[in-house]
Amino acid sequence: MHQPVMLKEVVSSLNLKRDDIVLDATIGGGGHAKEILKRIAPNGRLIGIDQDEAALKIVESEIESYHGSFKLVHDNFKNLDKILSAERIKYLDAILFDLGISTYQIEDSRRGFSIKYGGRLDMRMDPRANITAYDIVNRYSERSLSDIIERFGEERFHSRIARFIIGARSKKPIETSEELSSIIHKAVGYRYRKTRIDPATRTFQAIRIAVNDELASLEDGLKKAVSWLKAGARICVISFHSLEDRIVKGLFKSYSNLGVLKIVTKKPLRPSPAEIATNPRSRSGKLRVAERIE
Ligand SMILES: C[S@@+](CC[C@H](N)C(=O)[O-])C[C@H]1O[C@@H](n2cnc3c(N)ncnc32)[C@H](O)[C@@H]1O
Repeated sequence: MHQPVMLKEVVSSLNLKRDDIVLDATIGGGGHAKEILKRIAPNGRLIGIDQDEAALKIVESEIESYHGSFKLVHDNFKNLDKILSAERIKYLDAILFDLGISTYQIEDSRRGFSIKYGGRLDMRMDPRANITAYDIVNRYSERSLSDIIERFGEERFHSRIARFIIGARSKKPIETSEELSSIIHKAVGYRYRKTRIDPATRTFQAIRIAVNDELASLEDGLKKAVSWLKAGARICVISFHSLEDRIVKGLFKSYSNLGVLKIVTKKPLRPSPAEIATNPRSRSGKLRVAERIE
């Protein structure tokens, strides 16, 4: 089960009312969507986007009792202009982005997202996409690998990890998450021995971001989303690492300087200790909320 992060905080921050038209740009397992639908159905509408078709199949059965009040779309949220226009939506009363990957994706070893669950190196959120983690790990130059691991993983030891990857793949292709993880452990395990973080975490994050072009989609999707909010409508974004949060914070700030958005959360909201205890994956979540001014 994917447990929705900061559910209460999100639902109250969205200021939902009956009949609202809401966009859930990352509907995933539908945990947030169900609570949204409870508050806006039967005459409100929820548009739910996810680039992972498998997620949409799960969510469809989760929210089927709200049949007629929602529309699910298999696409990247960077295409939300096209999606909302096709649905003849004129404006939105609330928008949610809950970034990253879901528990379903992490725990599905066929997707190769996780150090713990292993699997063939893939990491595509949208299985129709062309580039996989396998391609990046086995085909990119040492320089490109090192850049990706530095930029998207903020990994200090990026050059050494890239060098070890090149060395390993010159003997045989690196096929699985387990193999990649063990190469990274050999490269920098000793540097991480005094920390609780797995030495492969940052590199896995970096490769996943590169495979899915996550930061460019986020910037594009958020900018488009703001233009659909009607006056007084709210946008909530949950991010899970500093690169995402920096983009959200920066965009909210520039829209606030332009007089388009009012920032509701001066500091991001964080999950409570009780939530972290029951759902450890929530621990890095940060919720930022803004409201359209005019
Ligand atoms: C953390 S999960 C969302 C969980 C959901 N809020 C819930 O309560 O079940 C993030 C979801 O966003 C999707 N996703 C991530 N980036 C996306 C993008 N650029 N466009 C569309 N979907 C995206 C992922 O496939 C994943 O299913």
